[in-house]
Amino acid sequence: MNRRDFLITTSAATLFPRIALASAPVELVAQLVNAQILPEGEPATPMLGFNGSTPGPVLRARQGEVFDIRFLNQIGEGSAVHWHGLRIDNAMDGVPGMTQDVVNAGGEFEYRFRAPDAGTFWYHSHNRSWEQVAKGLYGPLIIEEPTPPDVDHDLIVMIDDWRMTENGTLADGFENMHDQAHQGRLGNFARAHVEPVRQVRRGDRVRLRLINVATDRIFPVELEGVEGKVVALDGMPLESLQELSGLILAPAQRADIIADVTSATSASFAFPTRDGLYLLGEIPVEGSNITRQPSEISTLTQNEVASPDMDNAISLTLTMEGGAMSRRMMQGMMDWNIWAFNGQSGLTDTPLHRFERGQTARIRLVNDTRFPHGIHLHGHHFFELGLDGSQGAFRDTTLVDAGKSRDIVCVFDNPGRWLLHCHMLGHQAAGMKTWVEVV
Ligand code: C2O
Ligand code: CU
Repeated sequence: MNRRDFLITTSAATLFPRIALASAPVELVAQLVNAQILPEGEPATPMLGFNGSTPGPVLRARQGEVFDIRFLNQIGEGSAVHWHGLRIDNAMDGVPGMTQDVVNAGGEFEYRFRAPDAGTFWYHSHNRSWEQVAKGLYGPLIIEEPTPPDVDHDLIVMIDDWRMTENGTLADGFENMHDQAHQGRLGNFARAHVEPVRQVRRGDRVRLRLINVATDRIFPVELEGVEGKVVALDGMPLESLQELSGLILAPAQRADIIADVTSATSASFAFPTRDGLYLLGEIPVEGSNITRQPSEISTLTQNEVASPDMDNAISLTLTMEGGAMSRRMMQGMMDWNIWAFNGQSGLTDTPLHRFERGQTARIRLVNDTRFPHGIHLHGHHFFELGLDGSQGAFRDTTLVDAGKSRDIVCVFDNPGRWLLHCHMLGHQAAGMKTWVEVV
């Protein structure tokens, strides 16, 4: 990525509309929207959104509460909503052709589920997602802890990139094969949608909920003007806190950060490129908080997680293959079969594996390609294992670098048919997906 590829950077705050969950279903309307993605004064961009905006409204509930959402599809083509990272009933997972029928243009679907885990999640279209998500069909979904951590501000920061034309429209070519065979559709403009807040002061303690909603771009993120720790990844609290330095978010990954504002002027998010830092967004700082007592940042309360049964774990291997400069490509498998798992491109009638409910599996993810991939499993979280076999973070999406491999351990305890795919959505479109079944 070259810094000059980008048009300009901006720090404009996005309006995050809020809707309250009530006993009656909340309406979530997918529709065409105009969004001010480029800085004020530049043209607005015709996109897709929910309830009039992209990102869509913040869906927020307490842990254990029920979401009752009436999804109305007004985008003029089929769609469906996936609640990314939520360990919910299979029938509510929002995958057309697998867990429900596509919601046709003008149609609707009622999603009803109990939110089991507190944390930072998001929702997005799961139909032709490489295009619908690229056009903005996503929003944040926040589940609050029974006792939230003591912070002065709780802020959502959604990071995205867009491929813009000179007149401010999104470039088309969402199924460009060259993109799909490489890193996917990378934008020429990036920024963070930062939820506007009350005045942030120096000395305030903030919780930042970072969500990478880009279809294909991996964002390393550098924070300035704050000092703190990463307290959760992909919605799940860490057992030991991580340093802020070296934070990398693959598409769909989230990081919760608790930090103290140390700057007197601004806190900023940037991503390092070969040509320097590219500013993604800024939170202005004014005044200081003189009443907050300094205190250690502590871990969040863990969600309820089944412990893996390693003695009886089954072992599987999932090898990522294909893409530019691969044997698969050279042999002329040029259709949509650019990428594959274990030699198979796209979905088959039978699952990759059928698990007994509650079974533990250790899966070796082998990246035999020249590109990194962010592998996402629906309906479950899994432990990343360290090279020494130690149990790492509990995630729903794991980034495996080109030529590397990673073991994960998952307790398959949620019955149903679940997708397992690369969350670089251009790769998913071009075959990098499979499914598992839990019976
Ligand atoms: Cu974020 Cu298959 O989804
Ligand atoms: Cu991929």
